[in-house]
Amino acid sequence: MEDLIKKAARDIVEAKKVVALTGSGMSAESGIPTFRDQGGFWEKYNPDVYAHIDTFFSQPEKPWQMVKAFDQQLRAKPNPGHLALAEIEKMGFLKEIITQNVDNLHQQAGSTKVIEFHGNLRRGVCLVCGKYYEWGEITLEVLPPRCECNGVLKPDAVFFGEPIPEEAFQRAYEASRKCKLMFVIGTSAIVYPAASIPQVAKQAGAVVVEINPETTPLTDFVSDYSIIGKAGIILPQIVHALKQLA
Ligand code: OAD
Repeated sequence: MEDLIKKAARDIVEAKKVVALTGSGMSAESGIPTFRDQGGFWEKYNPDVYAHIDTFFSQPEKPWQMVKAFDQQLRAKPNPGHLALAEIEKMGFLKEIITQNVDNLHQQAGSTKVIEFHGNLRRGVCLVCGKYYEWGEITLEVLPPRCECNGVLKPDAVFFGEPIPEEAFQRAYEASRKCKLMFVIGTSAIVYPAASIPQVAKQAGAVVVEINPETTPLTDFVSDYSIIGKAGIILPQIVHALKQLA
């Protein structure tokens, strides 16, 4: 394990252009459940009912009930893994984080280059006039919340059945093609198109390194090596090893 951490630090220095793809495991140590692990979000909330765009149009209060439950989690704080990625950006190596997370924790940790591949739950958008609302401006006492124009607000996260926001999609694929090293952190890598991002990086010649306590479908076929463990433990160790190389 120690050898792999030192190797990852050496690979970062050599690559210079590093990108990270993150998933819900990244925020697990902040107290936010993942989606598919035991006790995960989809155990409690059937995604076909609570996270599908068709349900949103027929029963908009349903997804908002889940968001209301998520409200507690949105008070979560970045963990040492988020802070470590922000530090690797400051050191000049990490060029982009492509995140599937909608919790805003990378931004709160100080990362400035964050591509929100699945949107951000801390915003709502009016389906009638297109006005955006920040989290503190949305009241969840009566669901669904409405805009001042009386239009229904939609959480600004990507629902199943919806496309990825165009700008995020373009930026993510461009970053994947340009990077020399991609970290894939805390994602089961089964939801597409996000799961194709490491394959794009690999085909463009990047080294792919996973950080996850479990293996994923990428482990044997795409990843060059995996560091088995929690993001909040492994990433600070990589930062420590990087500082020793400097
Ligand atoms: P999943 O719940 O599918 O996978 C979570 C991953 O995090 C698993 O591989 C775990 O082993 C790993 N993990 C757990 N704890 C960890 C830790 N402390 N450090 C590192 N890894 C850890 O969540 P995602 O892959 O994020 O999309 O799910 C992808 C998408 O599916 C989500 O963005 C969401 C969901 O449906 C939409 O809602 C559109």
